[in-house]
Amino acid sequence: MTDALDKLLDELERFGQANDGSTTERPRRMLNITRDTGELLAVLVRACVARRVLEIGTSNGYSTLWLASGARAIGGKVTTVELAEYKIGLASATFARSGLAPSISLVHDDAGRVLTRSADAAFDLIFLDSERPEYPGWWPDLRRVLRPGGLLVVDNAISHPEQMAPFVALVKADSAFVTSLVPVGNGEFLAVKADPAWSQR
Ligand SMILES: C[S@@+](CC[C@H](N)C(=O)[O-])C[C@H]1O[C@@H](n2cnc3c(N)ncnc32)[C@H](O)[C@@H]1O
Repeated sequence: MTDALDKLLDELERFGQANDGSTTERPRRMLNITRDTGELLAVLVRACVARRVLEIGTSNGYSTLWLASGARAIGGKVTTVELAEYKIGLASATFARSGLAPSISLVHDDAGRVLTRSADAAFDLIFLDSERPEYPGWWPDLRRVLRPGGLLVVDNAISHPEQMAPFVALVKADSAFVTSLVPVGNGEFLAVKADPAWSQR
């Protein structure tokens, strides 16, 4: 990581903490992942050689920078989806300053719509950090657009266990997935999709 990128991440962390500490209005809050979660994402993108990353829930782009730093290192790209116009403006400014803009595609749309129109097996890694009650409804498309052998990472699995429970139950009940709850940051729920090619090796 360059010094400039590290400084930008540090600035965004301080902005997010100050901003979220001063407003209870959810659309105005940044709700960023923690730094150790960012470090985990940057490792996972590299470890999975995930060149096609989808992020759902951009906010001001803090987590995107961690995903994109990994994607850039392996010649990949991040598609990040955000519904709120205010956040799109903030994220655009973040990406322009980051030096990572060529590795990021920012999509201003509803994630459900983006998932519906995405091709089967379009993504190697999906990071889900949006409105948790939506997740069960998105599950059939999330499952479909994740390639065999691909990794799903979901934030807030420990901080919001009740809201996450219906989604976690759906994924755990699916025999194509092996899951793990990782106690980093707000709790990351990891699920890897079986690849039939594994058993042929
Ligand atoms: C928890 S924040 C994302 C934080 C970001 N991942 C980070 O760590 O920097 C959730 C974001 O999801 C966005 N969002 C909510 N519903 C959405 C939807 N249906 N489609 C796309 N984005 C949505 C919100 O506007 C908000 O910015």
